[in-house]
Amino acid sequence: MEKIKAGIAGLGRLGRIHAKNLAENIPGVSLIAACSLDESELDYARNILNVTKCYLDFEEMIQEADLDAVAIVTSSGAHCAQLSIALDAGLHVFCEKPLGITVEECLSAEQVVSKNPEQVFLLGFMRRFDPSYVYAKEKIDSGAIGTPYLVKATGVDPLKFIEGGLKFAPTSGGLFIDMAIHDIDLMRWFLNSEPISVYAIGSSFGYPAFTQFDDAEAGSALYKFQNGAMGYVHAGRTAAHGYHIETEIVGTKGSIRISPVPQKNLAILYTDDGVVTECVESFPERFSEAYLNEMRYFVDCIRNGEKPSIHVSDGTRSTQIAFATTQSFRQGILVPIQY
Ligand SMILES: NC(=O)c1ccc[n+]([C@@H]2O[C@H](COP(=O)([O-])OP(=O)(O)OC[C@H]3O[C@@H](n4cnc5c(N)ncnc54)[C@H](O)[C@@H]3O)[C@@H](O)[C@H]2O)c1
Repeated sequence: MEKIKAGIAGLGRLGRIHAKNLAENIPGVSLIAACSLDESELDYARNILNVTKCYLDFEEMIQEADLDAVAIVTSSGAHCAQLSIALDAGLHVFCEKPLGITVEECLSAEQVVSKNPEQVFLLGFMRRFDPSYVYAKEKIDSGAIGTPYLVKATGVDPLKFIEGGLKFAPTSGGLFIDMAIHDIDLMRWFLNSEPISVYAIGSSFGYPAFTQFDDAEAGSALYKFQNGAMGYVHAGRTAAHGYHIETEIVGTKGSIRISPVPQKNLAILYTDDGVVTECVESFPERFSEAYLNEMRYFVDCIRNGEKPSIHVSDGTRSTQIAFATTQSFRQGILVPIQY
């Protein structure tokens, strides 16, 4: 089979990671086109990644570049319109999370995906491709911890990125939609069930500015699942030690904890500062392997004519749950979750 001709839309913080993987790290695919609203980012694609076809307009790239597949890593509000254009043009599509920024958008994306059943559509819930999360899922499915009945998920951004969080606050949709969506997806995946109600609260002791956007510096949400299991999510933005992503799954016969100490690597320093384990600093560092694995999987699905294990409906469900969580936080009520 000839190499898959791929394009990428979006060359920002995450787009560059996916672009580099497609250009240099995945066999069987060539990155031949790139699109960004920013000409200087296109220079990066031209000069560093040797991408020959560069565009400022997504639709033009899809019509002119003669692509088999495209990775959509643009701002969240552009995802649904772009995936629809690409699928209707006959391309395979990888789309970053979130699927859309409203539930209505997600539902119409589902229709576009189901009307194009021959093409691969993969949503970027990359934690499902992180080796530790894959290992945990295999252990759970093999019965190693009995019946899982509780997932506790923590996701706290580094304090050093707080200015970015404040700048993005007016348009982010709030921390449950923007940040907790990965944890929501993981809870559903590990518990193999859907939440039916949520109660959420938040606080902004260090950075009260978040409250003016109906958002919080930190938030907690408690979920009741259809099968009787429980979920707890803690999302925040002020981890002094680095990027803290931690997940615990508790079952009737045992439990699994993933990165309770979110350490950079296996090295421990013994110095006059004491015994020190450094922390991962950012999502590109923590999930670099997951980003590579998910894009490899996308390419493998295209080559093997396989249906991806993550479905477009996973994007809709997690968005519905994130919106219900935000409603609970903003109104101070327990919210039943409708699907
Ligand atoms: N899975 C994850 O861990 C993860 C992490 C970070 C971001 N994301 C998601 O990835 C997406 C991109 O995030 P980012 O942090 O890289 O954003 P960013 O702001 O750094 O970059 C956005 C890029 O998209 C381009 N763009 C925006 N609108 C466009 C349009 N209409 N047409 C063409 N190009 C357009 C911009 O020019 C820029 O290159 C977001 O949806 C975000 O939620 C996912």
